[in-house]
Amino acid sequence: MLQTPRGTNDLLPAEQAAWDYVSDHFRAICAAYGYGEIRTPVFEDTRLFQRTVGEGTDIVEKEMYTFFDRGGDSLTLRPEGTAPVVRAYLEHGMHRLPQPVKLSYIASIFRYDRPQAGRLRQHHQFGVEALGESAATVDAEVIALLLHLYRNVGLTGLSLQLNSIGDAACRPQYIEELSAYYRSHTHALCENCRNRLERNPLRLLDCKEDSCQPFIHAAPHTLGSLCAACDAHFDTLKRSLEAMDIDYTLNHTLVRGLDYYTRTVFEVWPEAVGRQSALGGGGRYDGLARHIGKRDVPGIGFGTGIERIILNLERQGLASAADVPFGVYVATLGDNAARYGIGLVNDLRQRGIRALMTYKSRSLKAQLRQAGNLGAHYAVIVGDDELEQGKALLRDLNSSTQELVDDSDLAPTLERLRAGN
Ligand code: HAM
Repeated sequence: MLQTPRGTNDLLPAEQAAWDYVSDHFRAICAAYGYGEIRTPVFEDTRLFQRTVGEGTDIVEKEMYTFFDRGGDSLTLRPEGTAPVVRAYLEHGMHRLPQPVKLSYIASIFRYDRPQAGRLRQHHQFGVEALGESAATVDAEVIALLLHLYRNVGLTGLSLQLNSIGDAACRPQYIEELSAYYRSHTHALCENCRNRLERNPLRLLDCKEDSCQPFIHAAPHTLGSLCAACDAHFDTLKRSLEAMDIDYTLNHTLVRGLDYYTRTVFEVWPEAVGRQSALGGGGRYDGLARHIGKRDVPGIGFGTGIERIILNLERQGLASAADVPFGVYVATLGDNAARYGIGLVNDLRQRGIRALMTYKSRSLKAQLRQAGNLGAHYAVIVGDDELEQGKALLRDLNSSTQELVDDSDLAPTLERLRAGN
Protein backbone atom coordinates (compact mmCIF):
# COMPACT_ATOMS: atom_id res chain seq x y z
CA MET A 1 0.00 0.00 0.00
CA LEU A 2 1.61 3.26 -1.11
CA GLN A 3 1.22 6.24 1.20
CA THR A 4 2.01 9.97 1.28
CA PRO A 5 5.76 10.62 1.60
CA ARG A 6 6.95 11.08 5.22
CA GLY A 7 6.33 14.58 6.51
CA THR A 8 3.60 15.41 3.98
CA ASN A 9 -0.18 15.51 4.42
CA ASP A 10 -3.27 15.15 2.32
CA LEU A 11 -5.66 17.98 3.00
CA LEU A 12 -9.08 16.33 3.22
CA PRO A 13 -12.39 18.16 2.66
CA ALA A 14 -13.18 18.03 6.40
CA GLU A 15 -9.98 19.99 7.14
CA GLN A 16 -10.49 22.45 4.31
CA ALA A 17 -12.88 24.64 6.30
CA ALA A 18 -10.15 25.53 8.80
CA TRP A 19 -7.76 26.36 5.95
CA ASP A 20 -10.35 28.55 4.25
CA TYR A 21 -11.07 30.24 7.57
CA VAL A 22 -7.45 31.26 8.20
CA SER A 23 -6.77 32.03 4.50
CA ASP A 24 -9.82 34.31 4.28
CA HIS A 25 -8.59 36.22 7.33
CA PHE A 26 -5.08 36.46 5.89
CA ARG A 27 -6.33 37.78 2.53
CA ALA A 28 -8.69 40.31 4.14
CA ILE A 29 -5.95 41.64 6.45
CA CYS A 30 -3.41 41.86 3.59
CA ALA A 31 -5.95 43.85 1.57
CA ALA A 32 -6.48 46.22 4.51
CA TYR A 33 -2.71 46.81 4.81
CA GLY A 34 -2.29 47.24 1.03
CA TYR A 35 -0.49 43.98 0.18
CA GLY A 36 -1.11 42.44 -3.27
CA GLU A 37 -0.85 38.69 -3.74
CA ILE A 38 2.01 37.16 -5.72
CA ARG A 39 2.60 33.56 -6.85
CA THR A 40 6.07 32.35 -7.76
CA PRO A 41 7.07 28.92 -9.12
CA VAL A 42 7.32 25.94 -6.78
CA PHE A 43 10.93 25.41 -7.93
CA GLU A 44 13.70 27.89 -8.65
CA ASP A 45 17.32 27.93 -9.78
CA THR A 46 19.25 26.31 -6.87
CA ARG A 47 21.68 29.24 -6.74
CA LEU A 48 18.87 31.56 -5.64
CA PHE A 49 18.73 29.86 -2.23
CA GLN A 50 22.45 29.10 -1.95
CA ARG A 51 23.26 32.80 -2.37
CA THR A 52 20.55 34.22 -0.11
CA VAL A 53 19.58 31.72 2.60
CA GLY A 54 23.31 30.99 2.92
CA GLU A 55 25.71 28.09 2.38
CA GLY A 56 26.30 27.61 6.11
CA THR A 57 22.64 27.23 7.10
CA ASP A 58 20.77 24.01 7.91
CA ILE A 59 18.33 24.75 5.11
CA VAL A 60 20.97 24.86 2.37
CA GLU A 61 23.28 22.24 3.89
CA LYS A 62 20.76 19.58 4.83
CA GLU A 63 17.19 20.40 3.98
CA MET A 64 16.80 21.37 0.34
CA TYR A 65 15.06 19.18 -2.23
CA THR A 66 17.50 19.74 -5.08
CA PHE A 67 17.46 17.89 -8.39
CA PHE A 68 18.71 18.12 -11.95
CA ASP A 69 16.00 18.36 -14.56
CA ARG A 70 16.24 16.55 -17.90
CA GLY A 71 18.07 19.52 -19.39
CA GLY A 72 20.76 19.32 -16.70
CA ASP A 73 19.76 22.46 -14.75
CA SER A 74 19.94 22.33 -10.96
CA LEU A 75 16.57 23.24 -9.49
CA THR A 76 15.33 23.35 -5.89
CA LEU A 77 11.84 23.08 -4.46
CA ARG A 78 11.19 26.38 -2.65
CA PRO A 79 12.56 25.96 0.93
CA GLU A 80 11.33 29.47 1.89
CA GLY A 81 9.34 32.29 0.33
CA THR A 82 11.43 35.45 0.58
CA ALA A 83 14.18 34.94 -2.00
CA PRO A 84 11.69 34.04 -4.79
CA VAL A 85 9.66 37.19 -4.08
CA VAL A 86 12.77 39.40 -4.17
CA ARG A 87 13.81 37.67 -7.41
CA ALA A 88 10.38 38.47 -8.89
CA TYR A 89 10.64 42.11 -7.74
CA LEU A 90 13.98 42.46 -9.56
CA GLU A 91 12.95 40.45 -12.61
CA HIS A 92 9.82 42.53 -13.19
CA GLY A 93 11.44 45.92 -12.53
CA MET A 94 9.18 46.63 -9.57
CA HIS A 95 11.61 49.33 -8.40
CA ARG A 96 9.77 51.53 -10.93
CA LEU A 97 6.55 51.22 -8.91
CA PRO A 98 5.79 53.44 -5.89
CA GLN A 99 7.85 52.10 -2.96
CA PRO A 100 7.55 50.13 -0.83
CA VAL A 101 6.08 47.39 -3.00
CA LYS A 102 4.00 45.27 -0.64
CA LEU A 103 3.51 41.63 -1.61
CA SER A 104 1.81 38.70 0.09
CA TYR A 105 1.79 34.98 -0.65
CA ILE A 106 0.32 31.65 0.33
CA ALA A 107 2.93 29.07 -0.63
CA SER A 108 3.94 25.45 -0.17
CA ILE A 109 7.46 25.16 1.30
CA PHE A 110 9.73 22.10 1.20
CA ARG A 111 12.37 21.20 3.80
CA TYR A 112 13.91 17.81 4.43
CA ASP A 113 13.42 18.08 8.17
CA ARG A 114 12.75 15.47 10.87
CA PRO A 115 8.95 15.21 10.89
CA GLN A 116 7.09 15.70 14.19
CA ALA A 117 4.01 17.59 15.40
CA GLY A 118 4.07 20.96 13.61
CA ARG A 119 7.21 20.07 11.64
CA LEU A 120 6.66 18.81 8.11
CA ARG A 121 8.64 18.21 4.95
CA GLN A 122 6.01 20.01 2.93
CA HIS A 123 4.36 22.80 4.87
CA HIS A 124 2.53 25.96 3.86
CA GLN A 125 3.16 29.56 4.77
CA PHE A 126 1.34 32.84 4.72
CA GLY A 127 3.97 35.48 4.10
CA VAL A 128 4.38 39.16 3.29
CA GLU A 129 7.37 41.11 1.99
CA ALA A 130 7.59 44.94 1.89
CA LEU A 131 10.33 45.91 -0.57
CA GLY A 132 12.09 49.17 -1.34
CA GLU A 133 11.84 51.03 1.97
CA SER A 134 14.29 50.86 4.86
CA ALA A 135 12.35 52.92 7.45
CA ALA A 136 11.69 51.07 10.70
CA THR A 137 8.03 52.14 10.59
CA VAL A 138 7.61 49.48 7.85
CA ASP A 139 9.08 46.87 10.21
CA ALA A 140 6.47 47.88 12.77
CA GLU A 141 3.67 47.62 10.21
CA VAL A 142 4.75 44.12 9.15
CA ILE A 143 4.82 42.95 12.77
CA ALA A 144 1.42 44.57 13.42
CA LEU A 145 -0.03 42.75 10.40
CA LEU A 146 1.20 39.38 11.67
CA LEU A 147 -0.22 39.93 15.15
CA HIS A 148 -3.46 41.23 13.65
CA LEU A 149 -3.81 37.93 11.75
CA TYR A 150 -3.30 35.85 14.91
CA ARG A 151 -5.73 37.99 16.87
CA ASN A 152 -8.44 37.84 14.21
CA VAL A 153 -8.34 34.04 13.86
CA GLY A 154 -8.63 33.81 17.65
CA LEU A 155 -5.14 32.84 18.85
CA THR A 156 -4.15 34.02 22.32
CA GLY A 157 -1.22 33.55 24.70
CA LEU A 158 1.42 34.62 22.16
CA SER A 159 4.66 36.47 22.79
CA LEU A 160 6.55 38.65 20.33
CA GLN A 161 10.32 38.08 20.55
CA LEU A 162 12.40 40.92 19.15
CA ASN A 163 16.06 41.56 18.42
CA SER A 164 18.34 43.53 16.10
CA ILE A 165 21.39 41.81 14.65
CA GLY A 166 23.01 44.87 13.08
CA ASP A 167 24.19 45.37 9.52
CA ALA A 168 27.31 45.18 7.36
CA ALA A 169 28.79 48.14 9.26
CA CYS A 170 28.58 46.73 12.80
CA ARG A 171 28.06 42.98 12.48
CA PRO A 172 31.70 42.05 11.64
CA GLN A 173 32.87 43.65 14.89
CA TYR A 174 30.19 41.76 16.81
CA ILE A 175 31.10 38.44 15.14
CA GLU A 176 34.70 39.06 16.25
CA GLU A 177 33.59 39.53 19.85
CA LEU A 178 31.29 36.52 19.76
CA SER A 179 33.97 34.29 18.25
CA ALA A 180 36.54 35.42 20.80
CA TYR A 181 34.12 34.60 23.62
CA TYR A 182 33.33 31.17 22.19
CA ARG A 183 36.94 30.34 21.43
CA SER A 184 37.67 30.50 25.12
CA HIS A 185 35.07 27.74 25.67
CA THR A 186 35.75 25.51 22.64
CA HIS A 187 36.43 22.41 24.72
CA ALA A 188 32.93 22.49 26.28
CA LEU A 189 30.97 23.07 23.06
CA CYS A 190 28.95 20.45 21.20
CA GLU A 191 30.43 19.24 17.92
CA ASN A 192 27.96 21.29 15.88
CA CYS A 193 28.93 24.46 17.70
CA ARG A 194 32.62 23.83 17.13
CA ASN A 195 31.71 23.66 13.47
CA ARG A 196 29.58 26.80 13.65
CA LEU A 197 32.44 28.68 15.29
CA GLU A 198 34.47 28.13 12.14
CA ARG A 199 31.75 28.48 9.51
CA ASN A 200 28.88 30.64 10.77
CA PRO A 201 29.43 32.01 14.31
CA LEU A 202 26.05 33.79 14.57
CA ARG A 203 24.39 30.37 14.42
CA LEU A 204 26.08 29.53 17.76
CA LEU A 205 23.25 31.44 19.45
CA ASP A 206 20.72 29.12 17.80
CA CYS A 207 22.06 25.84 19.26
CA LYS A 208 19.39 23.63 20.86
CA GLU A 209 21.79 21.40 22.90
CA ASP A 210 21.29 21.70 26.66
CA SER A 211 25.03 21.76 27.29
CA CYS A 212 25.45 24.87 25.12
CA GLN A 213 22.65 26.94 26.70
CA PRO A 214 24.83 28.53 29.45
CA PHE A 215 27.24 29.83 26.78
CA ILE A 216 24.39 31.27 24.74
CA HIS A 217 23.07 33.13 27.76
CA ALA A 218 26.47 34.51 28.74
CA ALA A 219 27.51 35.43 25.17
CA PRO A 220 27.85 39.11 24.18
CA HIS A 221 24.61 40.64 22.88
CA THR A 222 24.16 42.00 19.36
CA LEU A 223 22.27 44.95 20.86
CA GLY A 224 25.44 45.99 22.69
CA SER A 225 27.38 46.24 19.40
CA LEU A 226 24.95 48.11 17.13
CA CYS A 227 26.30 51.09 15.19
CA ALA A 228 24.50 54.42 15.60
CA ALA A 229 22.34 53.91 12.48
CA CYS A 230 21.19 50.41 13.53
CA ASP A 231 20.59 51.63 17.06
CA ALA A 232 18.39 54.50 15.83
CA HIS A 233 16.51 52.10 13.52
CA PHE A 234 15.78 49.72 16.39
CA ASP A 235 14.71 52.61 18.59
CA THR A 236 12.19 53.83 16.00
CA LEU A 237 10.84 50.28 15.69
CA LYS A 238 10.33 49.94 19.43
CA ARG A 239 8.64 53.34 19.64
CA SER A 240 6.36 52.52 16.68
CA LEU A 241 5.33 49.22 18.33
CA GLU A 242 4.63 51.05 21.56
CA ALA A 243 2.49 53.57 19.64
CA MET A 244 0.34 50.61 18.54
CA ASP A 245 0.26 49.11 22.08
CA ILE A 246 2.18 46.05 20.89
CA ASP A 247 4.08 44.29 23.68
CA TYR A 248 7.44 42.71 22.90
CA THR A 249 10.19 40.81 24.67
CA LEU A 250 13.77 41.71 23.83
CA ASN A 251 15.56 38.45 23.10
CA HIS A 252 19.29 38.73 22.56
CA THR A 253 19.63 35.08 21.51
CA LEU A 254 17.21 35.45 18.59
CA VAL A 255 19.21 35.29 15.33
CA ARG A 256 16.93 33.22 13.02
CA GLY A 257 17.95 30.31 10.81
CA LEU A 258 18.57 32.14 7.54
CA ASP A 259 21.65 34.20 6.67
CA TYR A 260 20.01 37.10 4.87
CA TYR A 261 18.80 39.06 7.88
CA THR A 262 20.03 42.53 8.82
CA ARG A 263 18.84 44.66 11.73
CA THR A 264 15.31 43.62 12.83
CA VAL A 265 14.55 39.95 13.55
CA PHE A 266 11.41 38.69 15.30
CA GLU A 267 9.43 35.58 16.08
CA VAL A 268 6.03 34.93 17.62
CA TRP A 269 5.89 32.05 20.07
CA PRO A 270 2.95 30.33 21.69
CA GLU A 271 3.87 31.04 25.33
CA ALA A 272 3.35 27.45 26.42
CA VAL A 273 5.65 25.93 23.80
CA GLY A 274 8.40 28.45 23.11
CA ARG A 275 10.95 28.71 20.35
CA GLN A 276 10.92 25.11 19.11
CA SER A 277 7.63 25.70 17.40
CA ALA A 278 7.50 29.37 16.50
CA LEU A 279 4.19 30.29 14.92
CA GLY A 280 5.82 32.82 12.68
CA GLY A 281 9.01 34.74 12.17
CA GLY A 282 10.74 37.21 9.96
CA GLY A 283 12.94 40.23 9.76
CA ARG A 284 14.71 42.77 7.61
CA TYR A 285 17.04 41.73 4.79
CA ASP A 286 18.54 44.87 3.24
CA GLY A 287 21.47 42.98 1.68
CA LEU A 288 19.52 40.13 0.06
CA ALA A 289 18.69 41.66 -3.35
CA ARG A 290 22.38 42.35 -4.04
CA HIS A 291 23.00 38.59 -4.10
CA ILE A 292 20.40 38.13 -6.85
CA GLY A 293 20.66 41.24 -9.03
CA LYS A 294 22.70 44.38 -9.35
CA ARG A 295 20.46 46.47 -7.17
CA ASP A 296 20.20 47.21 -3.46
CA VAL A 297 16.62 46.80 -2.30
CA PRO A 298 15.81 47.02 1.41
CA GLY A 299 13.12 44.61 2.53
CA ILE A 300 11.27 43.23 5.53
CA GLY A 301 8.73 40.44 5.86
CA PHE A 302 7.48 37.40 7.72
CA GLY A 303 6.44 33.82 7.13
CA THR A 304 3.96 31.95 9.32
CA GLY A 305 3.16 28.25 9.06
CA ILE A 306 -0.48 27.54 8.22
CA GLU A 307 -0.34 24.03 9.75
CA ARG A 308 1.06 25.55 12.96
CA ILE A 309 -1.69 28.17 13.12
CA ILE A 310 -4.32 25.43 12.77
CA LEU A 311 -2.52 23.21 15.31
CA ASN A 312 -2.57 26.06 17.82
CA LEU A 313 -6.25 26.77 17.09
CA GLU A 314 -6.93 23.10 17.84
CA ARG A 315 -4.90 23.27 21.06
CA GLN A 316 -7.06 26.22 22.08
CA GLY A 317 -10.20 24.27 21.17
CA LEU A 318 -10.97 26.73 18.40
CA ALA A 319 -10.75 24.38 15.42
CA SER A 320 -14.50 24.56 14.92
CA ALA A 321 -14.30 28.33 14.55
CA ALA A 322 -14.90 27.63 10.89
CA ASP A 323 -18.68 27.16 10.49
CA VAL A 324 -20.23 24.47 8.35
CA PRO A 325 -21.67 26.30 5.33
CA PHE A 326 -25.45 26.60 5.02
CA GLY A 327 -26.88 23.45 3.42
CA VAL A 328 -30.20 21.97 2.31
CA TYR A 329 -30.94 18.29 1.85
CA VAL A 330 -33.69 17.37 -0.62
CA ALA A 331 -35.30 14.10 0.53
CA THR A 332 -37.69 12.41 -1.89
CA LEU A 333 -40.01 9.40 -1.82
CA GLY A 334 -41.09 7.77 -5.08
CA ASP A 335 -39.91 8.05 -8.69
CA ASN A 336 -41.80 11.21 -9.61
CA ALA A 337 -40.62 12.98 -6.48
CA ALA A 338 -37.05 11.83 -7.17
CA ARG A 339 -37.16 13.47 -10.62
CA TYR A 340 -38.60 16.65 -9.10
CA GLY A 341 -35.81 16.52 -6.48
CA ILE A 342 -33.10 16.47 -9.15
CA GLY A 343 -34.58 19.63 -10.67
CA LEU A 344 -34.89 21.37 -7.28
CA VAL A 345 -31.31 20.53 -6.24
CA ASN A 346 -30.09 21.86 -9.57
CA ASP A 347 -32.06 25.09 -9.12
CA LEU A 348 -30.74 25.63 -5.57
CA ARG A 349 -27.14 25.03 -6.69
CA GLN A 350 -27.56 27.62 -9.48
CA ARG A 351 -28.48 30.06 -6.71
CA GLY A 352 -25.27 29.19 -4.85
CA ILE A 353 -26.97 27.21 -2.10
CA ARG A 354 -25.20 24.02 -0.96
CA ALA A 355 -27.82 21.45 -1.98
CA LEU A 356 -27.52 17.74 -1.22
CA MET A 357 -29.56 14.66 -2.13
CA THR A 358 -29.49 10.88 -2.21
CA TYR A 359 -28.33 9.24 -5.42
CA LYS A 360 -30.36 6.08 -4.99
CA SER A 361 -33.72 5.18 -3.52
CA ARG A 362 -33.63 5.18 0.34
CA SER A 363 -36.09 5.37 3.21
CA LEU A 364 -36.99 8.83 4.52
CA LYS A 365 -35.33 7.96 7.83
CA ALA A 366 -32.06 7.05 6.09
CA GLN A 367 -32.17 10.23 4.03
CA LEU A 368 -32.71 12.45 7.08
CA ARG A 369 -29.86 10.68 8.88
CA GLN A 370 -27.63 11.39 5.92
CA ALA A 371 -28.78 15.05 5.92
CA GLY A 372 -27.61 15.33 9.53
CA ASN A 373 -24.29 13.63 8.78
CA LEU A 374 -23.64 16.07 5.95
CA GLY A 375 -24.30 19.07 8.18
CA ALA A 376 -27.45 20.23 6.35
CA HIS A 377 -29.45 22.93 8.13
CA TYR A 378 -32.79 22.22 6.40
CA ALA A 379 -34.44 19.34 4.59
CA VAL A 380 -37.00 19.64 1.84
CA ILE A 381 -39.22 16.55 1.91
CA VAL A 382 -41.25 15.65 -1.17
CA GLY A 383 -43.48 12.60 -1.71
CA ASP A 384 -46.11 11.97 -4.39
CA ASP A 385 -48.85 13.61 -2.27
CA GLU A 386 -46.92 16.87 -1.85
CA LEU A 387 -46.01 16.79 -5.51
CA GLU A 388 -49.69 16.61 -6.50
CA GLN A 389 -50.50 19.63 -4.30
CA GLY A 390 -47.55 21.62 -5.72
CA LYS A 391 -46.03 21.84 -2.22
CA ALA A 392 -43.11 20.48 -0.19
CA LEU A 393 -42.37 20.06 3.51
CA LEU A 394 -39.58 22.34 4.73
CA ARG A 395 -38.01 20.92 7.88
CA ASP A 396 -35.63 22.79 10.20
CA LEU A 397 -33.17 20.05 11.15
CA ASN A 398 -32.08 21.78 14.35
CA SER A 399 -35.49 22.39 15.87
CA SER A 400 -37.24 19.49 14.04
CA THR A 401 -40.15 21.81 13.16
CA GLN A 402 -41.63 21.76 9.69
CA GLU A 403 -44.15 23.57 7.49
CA LEU A 404 -45.75 23.09 4.08
CA VAL A 405 -44.41 25.54 1.52
CA ASP A 406 -45.58 26.25 -2.04
CA ASP A 407 -43.22 24.87 -4.65
CA SER A 408 -42.67 28.35 -6.11
CA ASP A 409 -41.79 29.76 -2.66
CA LEU A 410 -39.18 27.11 -1.80
CA ALA A 411 -36.07 28.58 -3.40
CA PRO A 412 -36.75 32.20 -2.31
CA THR A 413 -37.52 31.00 1.25
CA LEU A 414 -34.24 29.04 1.40
CA GLU A 415 -32.33 32.05 0.06
CA ARG A 416 -33.81 34.15 2.88
CA LEU A 417 -32.93 31.50 5.47
CA ARG A 418 -29.38 31.30 4.16
CA ALA A 419 -28.97 35.10 4.33
CA GLY A 420 -30.11 35.07 7.98
CA ASN A 421 -27.95 32.07 8.88
P1 HAM B 1 11.10 30.49 8.90
O1 HAM B 1 11.20 30.92 10.32
O2 HAM B 1 12.07 29.50 8.41
O3 HAM B 1 11.18 31.83 8.04
O4 HAM B 1 9.66 29.94 8.63
C1 HAM B 1 8.50 30.72 8.92
C2 HAM B 1 7.45 29.88 9.62
O5 HAM B 1 7.12 28.73 8.82
C3 HAM B 1 7.87 29.29 10.96
O6 HAM B 1 7.70 30.21 12.00
C4 HAM B 1 6.89 28.12 11.09
O7 HAM B 1 5.62 28.58 11.52
C5 HAM B 1 6.76 27.65 9.66
N1 HAM B 1 7.65 26.50 9.42
C6 HAM B 1 8.96 26.52 9.15
N2 HAM B 1 9.44 25.27 8.97
C7 HAM B 1 8.39 24.43 9.12
C8 HAM B 1 8.22 23.01 9.05
N3 HAM B 1 9.25 22.21 8.76
N4 HAM B 1 6.99 22.50 9.25
C9 HAM B 1 5.93 23.30 9.53
N5 HAM B 1 6.03 24.65 9.60
C10 HAM B 1 7.24 25.22 9.41
C11 HAM B 1 11.15 31.90 6.69
O8 HAM B 1 10.91 30.94 5.97
C12 HAM B 1 11.35 33.29 6.15
N6 HAM B 1 11.21 33.25 4.67
C13 HAM B 1 10.37 34.28 6.76
C14 HAM B 1 10.58 35.67 6.25
C15 HAM B 1 9.84 36.31 5.35
N7 HAM B 1 11.56 36.46 6.61
C16 HAM B 1 11.45 37.59 5.95
N8 HAM B 1 10.42 37.51 5.15
